[in-house]
Amino acid sequence: MTSGPETRYRVRGGNPLQGTVFVQGAKNAALKMIAASLMAAKGRTVLRNVPVIEDVRRAVELAQAVGAVVKFHEAERTLVVDASQLTSSVLPAEITRRFRASVLFVPALLHRLGEATVEGIGGCNLGSRNLDFHYRGFARLGATVDEGESQIHLKANGLRGAHLYLDTPSHTGTENLIMAASLAPGTTVIDNTALEPEVLDVIAFLTKMGARITGGGTGFVTVQGVSELTAVEHTVMPDRIDAAVFAMAAAITGGELSLVGASLDHFGVVRWKLEQMGVEFATQGAILQVRRERQLRPINVITCPFPGFATDLQSPITAVSCLADGTSYIRETIFDGRYNLVGELNKMGAKVEVAGNAVLVHGPTALKGTEVIAHDLRTGIALVLAGLAAEGETVVAPGYQIDRGHVSVAARLTTLGADITEETAD
Ligand code: EPU
Repeated sequence: MTSGPETRYRVRGGNPLQGTVFVQGAKNAALKMIAASLMAAKGRTVLRNVPVIEDVRRAVELAQAVGAVVKFHEAERTLVVDASQLTSSVLPAEITRRFRASVLFVPALLHRLGEATVEGIGGCNLGSRNLDFHYRGFARLGATVDEGESQIHLKANGLRGAHLYLDTPSHTGTENLIMAASLAPGTTVIDNTALEPEVLDVIAFLTKMGARITGGGTGFVTVQGVSELTAVEHTVMPDRIDAAVFAMAAAITGGELSLVGASLDHFGVVRWKLEQMGVEFATQGAILQVRRERQLRPINVITCPFPGFATDLQSPITAVSCLADGTSYIRETIFDGRYNLVGELNKMGAKVEVAGNAVLVHGPTALKGTEVIAHDLRTGIALVLAGLAAEGETVVAPGYQIDRGHVSVAARLTTLGADITEETAD
């Protein structure tokens, strides 16, 4: 597997961003579509507007590891997948350890090869991996699931439709069970499904492939199993998290940006919260204009499944809140341990405290550049935002975390007037 050199981002803050930015294709739709394309036993799938990010490269490597012929034409943002010969049912540890979405490849392997082995689970139990909804769903569809010391082995002598449910509306869980049900004879009903726009785009892709799915966007999905899925062409929707991060870049620097490919409808509650803080949105035809002219106001945010405030934007909004005039209250409800940003922001002079299960951000503070750690993708991009507003130089590492999910961050921000470079660490 290519892991690439260690990189870091160097940001010198203070420039209000101006100009036009192109929103990338949605990571959390593209990854599922790459996995779903392996369910087509004939022909070649063409995916357009695929974001050139590290997580997509991991998904390509995983598809290749099981025998698919995949070509990622990065300049064209186009992926071509020929899955006519799948040769291995093993999802190897060196990829799965870096790529949690590996479990999305299980349905294709179960249908095409009758088994799947997910390596590299490190002996932890299914619950603590938080993929229990997926494995329980596969079992209800008729797979046997054996958890070993360091791998999970699934076997299926033909899945069949069943009544499934999700304890909470898991985003990937919904997509994965829909994929598994698509080729399972009979009817599958899934209760409590996720409503995220990416789920609807994945359903649209599967429907083009020949799947029979109803109820997308209602919380209750029904799938009538079909006997085969065909290779098709699809354009991945724009990435609403990437779009909102750039809206927040305009907010934190006091700039004005034109976003190409952003849909306000996909922002959900994020739109209203940013407006309450003092960010102005204007739709001009297909362009979304974002600007901030006055002092930001503090905000209350509680993360929720769509259309609630996206958990992936909790770190970025925490960074923006540092500049607001008063105390903001931000509570994460989707993931444990998503407050890694707090310590890093405080290194930059912010006044953020964890108070019970929420964080309080005491603003406004003058952020100062220093060396900070990107503990995960969204912490990383939030620190880049903080760096854009900070005095002096902020060094964010490892850059890999940011490159997992956002395309050409330094190049796109530089075009907007930011002073940012990505460099190879010593
Ligand atoms: N959960 C379980 N068991 C499961 C599945 C989920 O307990 O089997 C729990 C999780 O532990 C979590 C909650 O349910 O507490 C929600 O998890 P969900 O399954 O919805 O998250 P996901 O599908 O694994 C996707 C995105 C995440 C995004 C979340 C929420 C992909 C590849 N990942 O994860 O994206 O935060 O939905 O919208 O689609 C990111 O892009 O930075 C990222 C983490």
